[in-house]
Amino acid sequence: CGIVGYIGYRQAAPVCTSGLLSLEYRGYDSFGIATLSPALSLCKHLGKISDAKTSANHLEGQIGIGHTRWATHGVPSEINAHPHVDRNKKIAVVHNGIIENYAELKRGLEERGVVFASQTDTEVIPHLIAEKYTGDLLAAVTAILPILKGSYALLILAEDNETLVAARKGSPLVLGLGDKEYILGSDALPLLEYTKKAVYFEDGDAAVIRKDGYEIYNAGAPVSRPVTELEWSADVARKGGFQHYMLKEIFEQPDAFANTLSVVKRCNEFIDQIRNAHSVTVVACGTSANASMVFSYLMERVCHIPTRVVLGSEFKYFPTPGTDLVIGVSQSGETADTIAALKLAKNLGAQTLAVTNVLGSSITRVASSVLYTRAGPEISVAATKSFISQVAAFMQITNLLSDHQIEFELAEIRRYLPDVLSLDLSKAVELCTAADTLLYIGRGMFYPVAMEGALKMKEISYIHAEGYAAGELKHGPFALLSPETPVIGMCFPDAVYPVMMSNLKEIKARSAPLIALGRKDDKDLDEVADVCISLPAVSEYGAVVLSSVILQQLAYHTAVALGRDVDMPRNLAKSVTVE
Ligand code: G6P
Repeated sequence: CGIVGYIGYRQAAPVCTSGLLSLEYRGYDSFGIATLSPALSLCKHLGKISDAKTSANHLEGQIGIGHTRWATHGVPSEINAHPHVDRNKKIAVVHNGIIENYAELKRGLEERGVVFASQTDTEVIPHLIAEKYTGDLLAAVTAILPILKGSYALLILAEDNETLVAARKGSPLVLGLGDKEYILGSDALPLLEYTKKAVYFEDGDAAVIRKDGYEIYNAGAPVSRPVTELEWSADVARKGGFQHYMLKEIFEQPDAFANTLSVVKRCNEFIDQIRNAHSVTVVACGTSANASMVFSYLMERVCHIPTRVVLGSEFKYFPTPGTDLVIGVSQSGETADTIAALKLAKNLGAQTLAVTNVLGSSITRVASSVLYTRAGPEISVAATKSFISQVAAFMQITNLLSDHQIEFELAEIRRYLPDVLSLDLSKAVELCTAADTLLYIGRGMFYPVAMEGALKMKEISYIHAEGYAAGELKHGPFALLSPETPVIGMCFPDAVYPVMMSNLKEIKARSAPLIALGRKDDKDLDEVADVCISLPAVSEYGAVVLSSVILQQLAYHTAVALGRDVDMPRNLAKSVTVE
């Protein structure tokens, strides 16, 4: 979920709705806003913000809060949408996170006569605050925070009270300092229109924000938090003429790749920590886990450091014993599973590093050293340029750690990346749009590339797709092969070329259509594949990056052909801040 708040001299509702639009990647099943004028007004809608923005913008008042939801407790509905209010409709709350003990708190409130309107965990909060509120909103909020178990970023308003109260534990919250106005958001995107100055709240902080100033408290004592200068401009978070954010972000990859390469070159301390490790565990989820798997191949093959990738959600409960270095990889820096895993690793005595794209994100507070990939903001739910920058970071780390440097290969990728953005993929797209199931295969580093290609396809086209190590197909998935089940294989002239070729022929012998990614002028591959997508003659590293970009485009064009909502696929969110 994403939350925003505004207090200042403008009408709050339009500021909140446009802020929520920039946070929609965090969830988009319903949204709502509340404003003070000084009476409390409320507006909630099922569905996306763009569908109902105009009616929400009519709410009057210069103080407001808003929420865009990714359902956890209770189905997406208008009633379950935030803000939630107390029974007298005087106190409004937006919440990102989960209140783990809400059932117990709800029982207590019901015994005291409260009737609940929604099925959400959040609704306990306004009722609890109302029981304590006598005019000082911060005092009432501070009184109830200790009984909330779980995670929260909260923004709270009370009727006839000219303040906005914020609190954070475990979920991100940032305060933008404007000129006679303040904007709050789950991340910095809603702030960019108004200010470059931001204050990131720490866990346990509760703040009161007035039109003319703010105060932050932690455990009852006033605290001051540093003011950070935001680097992103408001323009970078716009579509800039592209039909979708995803396409824009795909096209930004040549720059993102080059940027990350040069950033990592300056991260000596980070590199040294990896150099000194006996073994490395990487924790990550989703696309970041796939990029991390590319890293594990690079680390073991090129740097000879044993490296394993464990999904954040697994490591948290089944940690790897004896690893001295754990690296958390997360584009957003907010994925709850990855952060929980890294915290556990730290408690177990491991040294912890983070690789993230977002300045000041939660993961940066856990790790002792941080590497920023600096790909720029990524809005589309399906990760593209953040994956390519993670891969760039990992290739550059490998380059700096190894005796046999891969400078030439990295330069080659930069040279050829723009070319693959204009390849014609229409024949492959045609095969994919007609399929119910797609299988992606590769060996070595192309195995995670296959998994990422399949993940992209299923996320945005809703076609069932799986990525496999090519040798594994015969151990079960062969049963799925049919003329309706295209296989996408990556086959480049490297050490595994002959065995990869055999695999492709085995697939053809079972009459599955074959889309092959290979080197141009590979006549053997041309003969065996139904559709051959040809890459320039680059190294294995180059082929890994270029194939990944092609598979993103294949997913994109297939999803567009099927009329899917590419940037906001059903049921997903870009940052999943719950475990
Ligand atoms: C969500 C997104 C994925 C992303 C994953 C990890 O599930 O939908 O696209 O890969 O989270 O996100 P992170 O920000 O930690 O890389």
